[in-house]
Amino acid sequence: MGNNNKPRLGYFHRFIVPSDEMRTRRAQGQKGERNKFTTFLLLHGTGGNEEDLIPLAQQLGQKAAILSPRGKVLENGVAPRFFHRLAEGIFDIDDLKYRTNELADFVKDASNAYDFDVHNVIAVGYSNGANIGASMLLLRPEILSGAILFRAMVPLIPEILPNLTNKHIFMSSGIYDPIVTRQGAEKLFGLFRKTGAKVTISWQESGHELTMEEVQTAREWLQKFIVI
Ligand code: MLT
Repeated sequence: MGNNNKPRLGYFHRFIVPSDEMRTRRAQGQKGERNKFTTFLLLHGTGGNEEDLIPLAQQLGQKAAILSPRGKVLENGVAPRFFHRLAEGIFDIDDLKYRTNELADFVKDASNAYDFDVHNVIAVGYSNGANIGASMLLLRPEILSGAILFRAMVPLIPEILPNLTNKHIFMSSGIYDPIVTRQGAEKLFGLFRKTGAKVTISWQESGHELTMEEVQTAREWLQKFIVI
């Protein structure tokens, strides 16, 4: 669905309904019970697209729906991202704010179009996608009930810190990451702590690249803290 030549709801994207829900919708010939399932909002890294994180999301939980947009900003005309940057790790904050709101509105529109519960959305982001996921928690917290952020750093410091006491956040960071330093990841962890979020950080013996082990750790965290 939605993977044609024209963007739908403003973004090229995929939406995948969990198979149980699909069966219910078919059997009932209607929309099913939207409150029954969690939706993963997949946010790819620089140069990626809406297909990249689907296998990872399927490893995290088979019962969740998947909403996976492609970032609209093209770096050097070729590499999709979710917001402009001036250099590696130096962000165009005005664009980041604009794109965060635009993406949050897309999730709301998609929840109406595909009939999923907008109060049960977990962002799953990697690198640039993790950074806009963190930005969404800070600027538009009503859109996410939690987030799994692989290789995230502080995207921006909001003027007013939101109250994130009811949000569950799992950060997974690489000890040897040359792009997001240990201090950079810890700064984001500290910022989330100040908002009251239930945040966990898991350290990997790796760089910026993802490992199989951390996907498994994220899955265990999800099973423990979030009912999918
Ligand atoms: C970003 O631009 O969001 C970060 O530098 C991570 C990346 O995409 O390389």
